[in-house]
Amino acid sequence: MVRNIGILGAMSQEIDEVKALLTEKTVVSIANREFVVGKIGNVRCVVAFSKWGKVAATITATLLIQEFGVTDLFFVGTAGALAEGLKVGDIVVSKRLVQHDLDARPMIARCELPLLNRIYVESDAGLTEVATTAITRLLGRGVEAMVGKEAVEEFHLAPKLYLGDIASGDQFINSEARRNEILSLLPEVLCVEMEGAAVAQVCLEFGVPFTVIRTVSDTADHNARVDFGKFIVEVANAYSRAIVLEIMKEL
Ligand code: ADE
Repeated sequence: MVRNIGILGAMSQEIDEVKALLTEKTVVSIANREFVVGKIGNVRCVVAFSKWGKVAATITATLLIQEFGVTDLFFVGTAGALAEGLKVGDIVVSKRLVQHDLDARPMIARCELPLLNRIYVESDAGLTEVATTAITRLLGRGVEAMVGKEAVEEFHLAPKLYLGDIASGDQFINSEARRNEILSLLPEVLCVEMEGAAVAQVCLEFGVPFTVIRTVSDTADHNARVDFGKFIVEVANAYSRAIVLEIMKEL
């Protein structure tokens, strides 16, 4: 089967650079979303901005699968760090995804997915391996090659790659209190964002392999709004472009 890779990005700024990589492009609009169909190198791809939050990302992921028949799905974006030691610029590849704001107690356990008998959705081992191999090579070339010297200095970038759990919810986390609540509920989680676990659930139900790649833009505390804003404007697009290009070499 010829692969048809779906690529979703959480911010338009990030995914616009990825869209620009495509050749033999056609653009299809459905449900106020723009899907760019084409190729990166020899790999067939469909690229779209997921939009923000779990419902929006669910719609976009479902359309990618149902309308465009993607065979594999990569999600790229930023996240707030929860785990101790994780720094702005570090990259997290998902092992498992969980919805931190899902709570249908007392019928089922906190964070359990209704009727799916699980709290976590595991990302595909093969795609996760593809992503970690590609990102290891990318970081081996040095972060300066990816974002430029000025950004490295401004954001004190010395990125490391982590493999672990990612939590999603319909909240931008920007307080120590909320950050600690999520950590005490889900102590193993590395970072928090707003779409990954929704896309994971869609992919689980449709049987489509996926993985999520998140660059840390902030530490989900009282500085998060400012840090996130700066990271998105100045460097997030360079990260997503470089990550996607490197992943394509693995496929
Ligand atoms: N994406 C990037 N930073 C985030 C945060 N602090 N909370 C939720 N989603 C994010």
